[in-house]
Amino acid sequence: MIDFNKKTNIFHLHNKEFSYYIGINPLGILIHLYSGEFLSELYPERVTERYAERFAFLDGDKEVCDESYYYSELSSLHECASNLKADRRGSFITIEHHNNSTITDFRYHSHKIIKGKVNPKGLPHFKASENECETLIITLKDVNEEIYLELNYTLFKDLNVLIRSNKLINKTSNLIKLKRISSLELDIPNKDYEVLSLHGTWANDREVEINKVTHAGMIIDENHGARGFKHNPGILLKEKNSTLDYGEVYGFNLVYSGNFKYEIGLDQWDQVRLLAMLNDDTFSFNLDKNETFETPECVMVYSNSGINKVSQTFHDLIRDNLIEKEFVKKERPILINSWEGFYFDFDTNRIKKLIDEAKEVNIDLVVLDDGWFGKRNADNSSLGDWTVNNEKINLKEVIDYAHSKDMKFGLWVEPEMISYDSDLYRAHPEFALFNRDHKPTLLRHQLVLDLTNDEVVDYVFDKLKNIFDNYPIDYCKWDFNRHLADIGTFDNNNEGEIYHRFILGTYKLLSKFKERYPHILLETCSAGGGRFDLGMLYYSPQIWCSDNTNPYSRVLIQYATNIFYPLSTIGSHVSADKALSIQDKAIVAAFGTFGYELDLSKLSEEDKAKIVEINKLIRDWHHIVTLGDYYAISSPFESNFSTFNIVSKEKKEALVFNFNFRPEQTKGRFIRVKGLDKNKNYFNSLTNDVYKGDFYMNVGINISAPIKEGMTMMFVLKEVNSLIKVVANKKAHAVKREKLM
Ligand code: DGJ
Repeated sequence: MIDFNKKTNIFHLHNKEFSYYIGINPLGILIHLYSGEFLSELYPERVTERYAERFAFLDGDKEVCDESYYYSELSSLHECASNLKADRRGSFITIEHHNNSTITDFRYHSHKIIKGKVNPKGLPHFKASENECETLIITLKDVNEEIYLELNYTLFKDLNVLIRSNKLINKTSNLIKLKRISSLELDIPNKDYEVLSLHGTWANDREVEINKVTHAGMIIDENHGARGFKHNPGILLKEKNSTLDYGEVYGFNLVYSGNFKYEIGLDQWDQVRLLAMLNDDTFSFNLDKNETFETPECVMVYSNSGINKVSQTFHDLIRDNLIEKEFVKKERPILINSWEGFYFDFDTNRIKKLIDEAKEVNIDLVVLDDGWFGKRNADNSSLGDWTVNNEKINLKEVIDYAHSKDMKFGLWVEPEMISYDSDLYRAHPEFALFNRDHKPTLLRHQLVLDLTNDEVVDYVFDKLKNIFDNYPIDYCKWDFNRHLADIGTFDNNNEGEIYHRFILGTYKLLSKFKERYPHILLETCSAGGGRFDLGMLYYSPQIWCSDNTNPYSRVLIQYATNIFYPLSTIGSHVSADKALSIQDKAIVAAFGTFGYELDLSKLSEEDKAKIVEINKLIRDWHHIVTLGDYYAISSPFESNFSTFNIVSKEKKEALVFNFNFRPEQTKGRFIRVKGLDKNKNYFNSLTNDVYKGDFYMNVGINISAPIKEGMTMMFVLKEVNSLIKVVANKKAHAVKREKLM
């Protein structure tokens, strides 16, 4: 899987489908030679001849040109670009040395190849056994200083996945200032690449945007500290004409919940440089003698057959190697959350009534959201005062009540916060994270806790323990409702460190929680899906996707989220939104971890009966939605439809989803299902017919009909053995919506 040719000094990282070649040139500089479809032989002089003498006018380069392959520091493809040397296309790492110089120039020192992977300390990471992957660790050394940089490349055997992370070690006797450090650099020849990224805002959490990679460069970043809708850390680099199922596409994602940045651009020679890093606009980290700094992991996925393969690879990798094993296959409970139904207006009786009503319609888990603690009857107080408001709710009684009915009970918390109006703030104002020379910006009347301080982490954890040790809670919703601003602590205003140390503190707190309560199902959240990332998924197998539960909006938000994250991680609920019927809203919500956000007592008997029916189907489909292979068919960002299907791993069953925005009267439309076994016979619940897999995939299912605005449909395909005679059902094209669920 990872070979090193001692004669040529070239590493070949490969599996059956993917190759990544790195060369050590005679100057000890790491050269990127190739990345793409599996390539058994590489001819480095042919790959690099564009850097032949006429392009490489530097003296040093000429020496190198006489060797095995050509090199020009200006324009060659690097693995770890220097800072302030001849290559001015964006550095991989920048260090301010003790003499104030920021020239950074790392050269090969040594390497080793190990089975399995290395995991960055204190940071969430992918977990993989020695049979699944190998890691190449290349140690570089600064040309002048005793500063070492370890580059880790983990290649998976059965997935086109390369995970990168790096470690800087200061062995000088001086303090150095780390001003930029990347997790990954990818320098490749251009193929008219475009970048697909997800931007958003509150209630519009993720939207797809595609931009051409140009010489002007592009930055995809987040700088809100933690909660951030600005950009999601998942991006695609796709060749121009690539589609869902065709063309070369790279996927990237960072296992990090703080400020990040991708720099992507074309250089003067029309080559792409992509750097993934901690956002250096808000980063600067002091390292004393023998101190080390480890970067978050950045995962790179490669596909030579379009976007769907990247999504499937991300989904498999996240399910198998990131999310806690216990929750991957376990059926996730169907939940009802009190928030949109009651907001702060509840008491013991109202919650007990909700439990009764939830039981009647076969819901598994009742979640008590915000408002059960301190004096919190609005969003303006009490965060940090994690004691039950006994005047409002008898927590023990409601939990026992749920359990007595064989139901589960969940509780909301927002542990990283402190309300300005709270006993905690009055007792410990120094616990709040803000620069004491500035008036702090209150957002939602609250401040962020100083989690850079272990004492604060321990304090909050003790408070959480008081609740979670004493009440048998099955599920926890962990919220985070404001971003970082005016940061500083009562004795330190080094923003460059605080941003990163805050995230490390959050991870410390989450680790403590997971260690003590491994069986509590954790759902993270940030004003909806403001912190939907791989860092959070390491701790919580599901994340609340968005505060926007309108099905028209949700279809878009979920489609965008599906590109990078498995459906089992996407919290999606049916709310009282008036846009569509309860059934249609349920079809949209079915493709995630399913639940409700409404007041059941306000529903008609008819809708309650529907819920019983829906919940049964959700349980029947659960294994397909959570474990199957996802295939996008039509993007709602590019068409009138959001269409996709999911196929179980053994290709025995599939679920097909289709939603349209505008009405259509006469257009002909067939849904061509993807990923079936072409030789299997499948019964479909839409037309009640049996066809062969290849028919569904090549001709498709006819849904040509007058289509109303917001028409929502799903149907199931099930493998059948019997050769039921296929009779063309003339009425099949009339979409029978009542029969769909
Ligand atoms: C924001 C979340 O997204 C909501 O679901 C709810 O939990 C509120 N916070 C509570 O304050």
